[in-house]
Amino acid sequence: MLSKEITAKIDREIAKYPEGQQQSAVMAALAFVQEERGWLSQESLAEVADYLHMAPISVHEVAAFYNMFELHPVGKHKLTICTNLPCALSGGVHAAEYLKQQLGIDFNETTADGLFTLKEGECMGACGDAPVMLRNNHQMCSYMDEAAIDKLLAELRKS
Ligand code: FES
Repeated sequence: MLSKEITAKIDREIAKYPEGQQQSAVMAALAFVQEERGWLSQESLAEVADYLHMAPISVHEVAAFYNMFELHPVGKHKLTICTNLPCALSGGVHAAEYLKQQLGIDFNETTADGLFTLKEGECMGACGDAPVMLRNNHQMCSYMDEAAIDKLLAELRKS
């Protein structure tokens, strides 16, 4: 069951659209649910579909299309490294390999302690800050050379 906090947030999003267009709030609704629960289970998708009066398959299609949505459990810190061309030409591929080495995992894997999940991402619109990385879809990390990665991982392990 969606929490009161989530339904209040979804209601605010629904109010931005014309009456009867509540499905326009689906991406926001999925983001709120994922933020609270960490990922989107089939049950969560069904709850969102029910709340927005949408077919469950339509909600699933949205969640499966956008790579910021997780349909399986992820670690506490999801690190998404950009490997698109501008970043790749400015150290992104090396940063990705270094992260794999430091975490002992490949893309789409989670460390055994459940702390980190590593993802490969598309352009984040910050090519000038390459290599760039997102933590949990919200925190943009710029200029991620080896030293910056070491510092970030140490901070996250302590937190
Ligand atoms: S290519 Fe990496 S942010 Fe644009």
